[in-house]
Amino acid sequence: MIPTSFPGYQVVEKIARGGFSEVYKVTPVGVEAVFALKALNDRGMRDPSGRAALSNEFQVISRLSHDLIVRPRELNADAARPFMVMDFFEHVPFRRLIGEPTARLADNLMVCAEVARALVYVHEQGYIHKDVKPDNVLVGADSIRLVDFAFAERPRRWFSRAPRLEGTPEYLAPEVLLKKRPDRAADVYSFGVMLFEAAAGRLPFLGTTPEETARAQLADPLPFIRHYRREAPPALQTLVESLCRKKPRDRPCDLREARAQIMKCRRDIPT
Ligand SMILES: Nc1ncnc2c1ncn2[C@@H]1O[C@H](COP(=O)(O)OP(=O)(O)OP(=O)(O)O)[C@@H](O)[C@H]1O
Ligand SMILES: [Mg+2]
Repeated sequence: MIPTSFPGYQVVEKIARGGFSEVYKVTPVGVEAVFALKALNDRGMRDPSGRAALSNEFQVISRLSHDLIVRPRELNADAARPFMVMDFFEHVPFRRLIGEPTARLADNLMVCAEVARALVYVHEQGYIHKDVKPDNVLVGADSIRLVDFAFAERPRRWFSRAPRLEGTPEYLAPEVLLKKRPDRAADVYSFGVMLFEAAAGRLPFLGTTPEETARAQLADPLPFIRHYRREAPPALQTLVESLCRKKPRDRPCDLREARAQIMKCRRDIPT
């Protein structure tokens, strides 16, 4: 059942349903404005990591300040259904654009270049996002937003517990699948997978089960983008291959250069 209100907010409509949460368009009571409200769903209420992820996301985005990251407004962790409120961003999820047969390579590359810019900033602030994928990129009329900082963290070198497997198998770096402590190279890999998908229109590594997908991430070479998209410049293949290298230390550690190369590839698309 869709709730019609949260303490202090009226629900306008439900926007999305995720693993642990639901996102609503809301208006604050007595004020003419719209915000996005992310509340735990039943699963998020049952799993103790749901609450932790919501608070974590609010804290992380509260410490970030960037034009490609939505501003947080309020966290209510004590409500019957804990929620956080942030600026509302009118958009189409990048996932939907990638799937469209008429999607233009130049447009998709522009979106990826902007995501690289957001990630450069996130990494400079000492955080890793840990869930980079097209579902977490919102494409507006003339700008984008990188969202869903539920798993974001400052990488820690010392950690006594084996890390919990978070994220989405199709985008997870080999070292993450092997339960090693991730650093920003894990985001670089996931970004590489998304860039491949944005160019080719399909995932580079995909099995019929999560285990098969993981095996492909660990062992398979990157397929050729040009098999799926003839106009993809060869330099794009070279770039994605470097981003998706199996060993984290072999990947570029900074996405600034990747962004520049994406923009160059964009200019080199034959018209
Ligand atoms: N600030 C926002 N403005 C408008 N829509 C948003 C906003 N934030 C999120 N959304 C919408 O809600 C969807 C889900 O958001 P998000 O990825 O943060 O949550 P989630 O995937 O449910 O989280 P989790 O992965 O923790 O289950 C987005 O794809 C987007 O469509
Ligand atoms: Mg999400």
